[in-house]
Amino acid sequence: MDIVAKISEVPNFGSKVVSVSGREILLVNVKGVIYAVENECPHQGSPMNAATVKDGYISCPRHGYRFSLTNGKCAEHPDCTLVTFPVQLDGDDILVG
Ligand code: FES
Repeated sequence: MDIVAKISEVPNFGSKVVSVSGREILLVNVKGVIYAVENECPHQGSPMNAATVKDGYISCPRHGYRFSLTNGKCAEHPDCTLVTFPVQLDGDDILVG
């Protein structure tokens, strides 16, 4: 796992895009729980950093597909799964696998 950001850089109910090995990853903070997802919608590639986060789901800003923050699945469109990454916290550090 790599240290990608500090928790203090991702405000509660906010997000931050980081680059890891040439890949853009969106970190999302929901009440202190950090999620990491690919910053690219699996539908038609929209950046996810303008997405809405609510009730454990992240909704793509382009066509509204809703993806689980924990496993990336989209109930309405099972053929589309958002890539998710394991997250660990170590003090103020966010590590992503
Ligand atoms: S590009 Fe994300 S739902 Fe279509």
